[in-house]
Amino acid sequence: MLLSDSPLQQSAREHLLLHFSRNGNPAPLLVLERGEGPYVFDTHGNRYLDGLSSLFCAQIGYSYGEELASVAAAQLQQLAFSTVWGTAHPSAIELAETLAEVMPGDLDHVFFTSGGSESVEAAWKIVRQYHVANGEPQRTKAIARDRAYHGVTLGALSFTGVPGYKEQFGPPAIPVTHVSNTNPFRGPAPDEDEAAFCRRLLDEVEAAIQAEGPQTVALIIAEPVQNAGGCLVPPAGYWEGLREIADRHGILLVSDEVICGFGRLGEWLGVERFGVTPDLATTAKGLTSAYAPMGAVIVSDKVAAPLYEDPKRTLMHGITFAGHPLSAAIALRNLHIFRRDGILENVRDQEPYLKERLDELRALPIVGDVRGAGFFWAIELVKDDDNTRLEADERERLLRGFLPGRLIEAGLIARPDDRGDAVLHVAPPLISDRQVIDELAAKIGEVLTDAHRVLHGETTP
Ligand SMILES: Cc1ncc(COP(=O)(O)O)c(C=O)c1O
Repeated sequence: MLLSDSPLQQSAREHLLLHFSRNGNPAPLLVLERGEGPYVFDTHGNRYLDGLSSLFCAQIGYSYGEELASVAAAQLQQLAFSTVWGTAHPSAIELAETLAEVMPGDLDHVFFTSGGSESVEAAWKIVRQYHVANGEPQRTKAIARDRAYHGVTLGALSFTGVPGYKEQFGPPAIPVTHVSNTNPFRGPAPDEDEAAFCRRLLDEVEAAIQAEGPQTVALIIAEPVQNAGGCLVPPAGYWEGLREIADRHGILLVSDEVICGFGRLGEWLGVERFGVTPDLATTAKGLTSAYAPMGAVIVSDKVAAPLYEDPKRTLMHGITFAGHPLSAAIALRNLHIFRRDGILENVRDQEPYLKERLDELRALPIVGDVRGAGFFWAIELVKDDDNTRLEADERERLLRGFLPGRLIEAGLIARPDDRGDAVLHVAPPLISDRQVIDELAAKIGEVLTDAHRVLHGETTP
């Protein structure tokens, strides 16, 4: 248990600005220093099951350090750095080729970035250049979804649909209309079945496009399963519907795969689960299993064509560290590990068991819904069996007051979140087996049982 401040914790308080955190929070800071399999260890030696894969990144867990360190050492000794600005290096080329090989359909061209927000912004710029090259420069608008998170740098922030993240930062750089997300628990009207819900959502997308003017819309961006709001799995037919609408209006469809890609849903791209190939896929996180930072936009033949056809056309975008040899070499080996060690297969094999174990938590009165796919799940927290939403003060008390400390005490990393309704995000490393899943479910059950007591004013044992 984290009882008192160590010198490292104190130093962090003085010098390290934590992202999306209350830096003035006096609670002891969790300082993690070591990883092994699906576990991480703090500086006091306490072990935690990483039930969030370090923000959906640690696909292969923490035990590939030796293999990837030797790849990193070899790359750094051979060529520590080179760009992909007008020149190239073998690791970036081989990685692009391997990505083209594993990606669905004609997603054959790779623009590297340093992370997810950069991928989203690069996708926007590539889309704009595609439309300009095709004689449609008036396509300057976008469609995204309510509560969706697509990053917070100023371009990507335009697509993000979480009002609190935007309020202090002025008008968005890109005009984006946000349509309803696919919340399967709260979204459908009482008498609405899945097909009718899907139709209504797609009609809303169509209406938004009509309101903006179909010839002015450049892209639609969506995650296969939306994270913010709590694993919002789409109704059957939704992605096919988006594909059809986009094609009918000459709009490009971007699948934001920063979380869902690289096995999180058991496929290379999460959207493959829904039988659709997007025009562009934005990726990061799992591309390297976060053994090094890297992102990539993967672009279809159609969208890339104008970038190749005119020898005088310059791709107007670039980032110094994109395609860094170190990250590229690690990503390449990560993809090799995925294939060699059956990472996608493990997710497909274990998904039913993970679902079964998490579904058992529905018996707890504080659990309103359990939803997700692959190794990407959210547990919606409610007041009681009648599924009443938590009030703002209850969310504050539970999600920011009680749960962070209690999760740490239980030796579990999971994420309480209320960007939509109150949820606990659960996304274990993709190497997790039944034993790990059992441990995960047991710890969540223990913590949420106490959470219900605290919510109703009882003290914990
Ligand atoms: C779907 C999605 N898009 C984009 C981003 C932004 O990625 P990054 O934090 O690497 O900039 C995130 C981050 O979590 C994400 O979940």
